[in-house]
Amino acid sequence: MRKPVIAGNWKMYKLLSEAVNTAVGLKPLVANANDCEIVIAPVFTALKTVADRLEGSNIRVSAQDCATQNEFGAHTGEIAPVMLKDAGCSHVIIGHSERRQFYGETDESVNKKTHATIAAGLVAIVCVGEHLSERESGNANSVVAEQLNTGLAGLTVADMERIIIAYEPVWAIGTGKTATPEQAQEMHAHIRQTVAASHGNDVANAVRILYGGSVKPDNIATLMSQTDVDGALVGGASLEVESFASIVNFK
Ligand code: PGA
Repeated sequence: MRKPVIAGNWKMYKLLSEAVNTAVGLKPLVANANDCEIVIAPVFTALKTVADRLEGSNIRVSAQDCATQNEFGAHTGEIAPVMLKDAGCSHVIIGHSERRQFYGETDESVNKKTHATIAAGLVAIVCVGEHLSERESGNANSVVAEQLNTGLAGLTVADMERIIIAYEPVWAIGTGKTATPEQAQEMHAHIRQTVAASHGNDVANAVRILYGGSVKPDNIATLMSQTDVDGALVGGASLEVESFASIVNFK
């Protein structure tokens, strides 16, 4: 059985006080959600404070990006996974489509960041997903397979225990256009097959695959009812305590 994961990606929202208020407000509302893993991803400057305030709770803290290496050095502006762990993080989101589209993220840098994240003892939430034009031209499956094969290259079977995959069709992010449950299921099954081909059936059956892209309280249940959907990566609807809590408590 794969334990569901509901992760909130706060993107570049919330000052420190707002981040703390949201995190602290969320705590009691999800305290009984023991059958799912809950993760929130505030901006870097809020990570340590939020993690401290959530200590002892069932909410884990994730960064939204990281450096490609853990060795300290002359890398102005970068933050190593080992530093994120030091700040109280347990997860890192890697390869979000906004980083791929606007900040030069490539499958190769995703691969390096994923290795560095695992080396630091953290869990990598590796994001994949096609653009609308790629879906319309019938290339969605090959685009996602390439993102996975390069992004997860060189990871051992043991490393894969620290991988969560997030499928986020770019056309569904922040647009209000959710993939239909059937579209999500179809791609999630394809992702699992791709992982089976690269890392074997046991890894493929165990890896959690989250859906992301306009997940809301009113569509989470149908998405989660799909066989290969193991959770959600939530953007907009994770910013408000009530809506994120009702996604976590969707049952
Ligand atoms: P959204 O964002 O839920 O606002 O569509 C999802 C994401 O970018 O992770």
